[in-house]
Amino acid sequence: MLSGDLTVDVAVVGGGVAGLTVAWLLRRAGKRVVVLEMNRLLTGQTGQTTAHLTELLDTPYSTLCSDFGEKGARLAAASSRDSIEQIASLVKALGVDCGFQRVPMFRYAETDSQLRELEKEVAAARKVGLQASLTRDVPLPFPVKGALRLENQAQFHPRTYLLALAERLEKEGCLIFEETRVVDVQDGVPCRVVTDKGTVLATDVVEATTTPLNKLFLHSKLYPYRTYSVAGPLEAPLEAGLYYDSQDPYHYIRPQRIDGVDYLIVGGEDHKVGTEEDTETHFAALEAYTRRNFPVTRVTHRWSGQVIEPADGLAYIGRNSASRHTYVATGFSGTGITWGTLSGMILSDLILGRENPYAALYDARRVKVRAGAKDFIQENAEVAFRFVADRLARPDGHQLSEVAPGEGKILEVEGKKVAVYREENGTCHAISPVCTHVGCHVHWNRAERSWDCPCHGARFSPTGKVLNGPAVRDLASQKLPEEASTASPITTHGEE
Ligand code: FES
Repeated sequence: MLSGDLTVDVAVVGGGVAGLTVAWLLRRAGKRVVVLEMNRLLTGQTGQTTAHLTELLDTPYSTLCSDFGEKGARLAAASSRDSIEQIASLVKALGVDCGFQRVPMFRYAETDSQLRELEKEVAAARKVGLQASLTRDVPLPFPVKGALRLENQAQFHPRTYLLALAERLEKEGCLIFEETRVVDVQDGVPCRVVTDKGTVLATDVVEATTTPLNKLFLHSKLYPYRTYSVAGPLEAPLEAGLYYDSQDPYHYIRPQRIDGVDYLIVGGEDHKVGTEEDTETHFAALEAYTRRNFPVTRVTHRWSGQVIEPADGLAYIGRNSASRHTYVATGFSGTGITWGTLSGMILSDLILGRENPYAALYDARRVKVRAGAKDFIQENAEVAFRFVADRLARPDGHQLSEVAPGEGKILEVEGKKVAVYREENGTCHAISPVCTHVGCHVHWNRAERSWDCPCHGARFSPTGKVLNGPAVRDLASQKLPEEASTASPITTHGEE
């Protein structure tokens, strides 16, 4: 971890796919680079991805054509292809055995109306240069109406790939500091990156975290979602490929061989962060969906991740608003590995003063008045609503005895709200429910045992430690009143 102050050419905040890729490209160009990671490498969102490498984006190409013009949609398609090829060439250069494999992709329809939508999407995809076709021959164990098929997509094991990349980066002189939390980034000459272990002075800074720090305007264009994944051994073969249904939210499915066993990985059940307490129901629904549709009877793994939806359907990659030397990469939607890689390509070019064909399209400062306007108004109205309504909302209870082991609840004690978590052994922790980003109230997430903020997606551990930005400070510890403290063993967050 970082200890003391440091001066470099480029400081990269975040050691996921975007951070490590930009670090690699800049180091290869001779820059002195430091990567600052809050936790251990790849324990964040990149480590949770199911790694579908595809040119098909979450936003349909028909929508991109109307919002960004055919030229913009063509660039979006070409940039996705380039990022897959960038990964392929890096896998080769690193000589890493990360299961990189070219596979076809199928987005399938189960109803006539879904099929009509797919037909439109095939036409739009072909118009922007993709080799898309409509097929009725879909290698799934249940009948479907048809599917959009794309060749030459890919899959791999992202963690193996990125750990190899990190190892090579360090060998080539890039500094990587784990467990170093960045608490402030100040644009300037030089920029100052303030961490909990020291300060880094850098000519340029890349914020490659899921959501960047303290960029309120940018946060108004980012909508945080939780997504769920389960995996289990396949009891009959399924042809290698990336599969997506056409439901909303859609399911994403692919087989993966691990240690000689063929597993099926299924994801979906997305919902806004912090808006549901009983998140176990999403895992249960996903398991039921998997068993119902595929030859899987035993689910052996489950996890969840955070997806940041961009307001107009494309990631935000580039200089941050008025900054001259601070860059951001965020809003990767369901295509984190390809857009993370693309971020490395675009940002390294911008920092090195080189032309990049995709920089204007993904410019983080853009405001598309038409594209996503309805969502923009709705999502930001919801943030404003949450800010007020959660303060006025009825608490979950008033007594510590109402908080069961392993559970978190918002209690109202002497007119004041307090977030209380009870460990399995009975010990209680009391913290403020006020998110340290801009003050919305956090909500308990039962399946993941975390406090989640519905406004911009910050998440905190049961005892209030930051798990996900944009918050950088832990939830404040809070004292419980004396009479309540006699009911059960109590500690406050500060006494851990
Ligand atoms: S994440 Fe912005 S207020 Fe909580």
